[in-house]
Amino acid sequence: MKQVNDLSIETRKDFPLFCRKQDQESNLIYLDHAATSQKPIQVIDALERYYSFQNANVHRGAHQLSAKATQAFEEARDITAKFINAKSSNEIIFTRNATEAINLVAYSWGNSQVKEKDEILITLMEHHSNIVPWQLLAKRSGCTLRYIGLSDTGELDLEDFHKKINKSTKLVALLHVSNTLGTCNPIEEITKIAHSVGALVLLDACQSLAHKKVNVASLNIDFLAGSSHKICGPTGCGFLWGRENILEEMPPFLGGGEMIQDVSLLESSWADLPFKFEAGTPAIGEAIGMAKAITYLESIGLEKISSYEQELTAYLFEKLTNIEDITILGPTPKQQSNRGPLATFYIKGIHSNDISELLDSSNICIRSGHHCCQPLHKYYGVVSTARASLSFTSTKEEIDIFSQELISSIEFIKRNS
Ligand SMILES: Cc1ncc(COP(=O)(O)O)c(C=O)c1O
Repeated sequence: MKQVNDLSIETRKDFPLFCRKQDQESNLIYLDHAATSQKPIQVIDALERYYSFQNANVHRGAHQLSAKATQAFEEARDITAKFINAKSSNEIIFTRNATEAINLVAYSWGNSQVKEKDEILITLMEHHSNIVPWQLLAKRSGCTLRYIGLSDTGELDLEDFHKKINKSTKLVALLHVSNTLGTCNPIEEITKIAHSVGALVLLDACQSLAHKKVNVASLNIDFLAGSSHKICGPTGCGFLWGRENILEEMPPFLGGGEMIQDVSLLESSWADLPFKFEAGTPAIGEAIGMAKAITYLESIGLEKISSYEQELTAYLFEKLTNIEDITILGPTPKQQSNRGPLATFYIKGIHSNDISELLDSSNICIRSGHHCCQPLHKYYGVVSTARASLSFTSTKEEIDIFSQELISSIEFIKRNS
């Protein structure tokens, strides 16, 4: 069997949150990496350096500080492009987050390309960020929004996909890895079929970019939405990748400074890519911080991250499976070895908020609620679930303590109800 390095040993020292000695936070067990990642010192330092010594507005100043900031900002774009194997940095549009990236496509591409008889195909496991923009587009355009269903294991029902995709499908928008089920979707297969009927594919890569190598060329997709805060970068920054020829044809999303070529009293013309889609002052320091986070992840190695997290996920499932009255959603690591590093579960007769509150009192952070996936929770007939999500900094010891405390919490709640 392949030897898997314990990445937590070499990486935890980079995260101030996991190294604090003086107070109780040093004992914190953070199992909420899918909600937002913790930040390594390399990213925090890059932000501090930028705001201390490089801060100026980009693309407009005639002075050296602005030139420095512009260079660092554009290097961040190059690093982001290489990270996902984009053909050109012009294909990277910086946004506030992944949600804004998806809305950009829904407004700009959607408003200009989608008509009343058209269909948009998404899946039952989508995050609200990849549902609501399409509902709004359906209201504006009169198009139909359709959902691909799930199999018994919580994977995509590919038969249903084949049934629902047709010549009217203009776009298949789906997540790579589910933030609730952990399911990893077969994107290459889906893209092949979508393209065969002339539909484009938008990938929500929020839960995959920090956990596995994502290559837009080999996946052969058309758009990708990513978020800095999920990949060890700062909040306030995300990005849209799109094929250059498609982005060229799309009208602007927001209007204002930076995105214009020429402005007259009644009309304007647009700047070239990528600036056409970046109205106003961007999140400069945050984009630089995101690029530092990407460099950090690459220095560890995404293949190594995947292997380590797969081993941890199997261990997490092993610990949770035997707990009485537990239901874990999504495929097990045996059913899908490349699934995401998280476990979402509920315990019969107990509200997940009670569990997360009790765990919190033992310094263990997990997520409770619908995880922005209400349609998925309705499909499973539950209002709320608990989710423990891992990263390369997680350890088996953390999982041991979590599962032990979970058992104690369940016993406590049962005794007192
Ligand atoms: C699968 C998925 N898509 C989209 C998002 C939204 O990301 P953001 O809040 O950065 O826009 C999230 C965040 O939880 C997510 O997990």
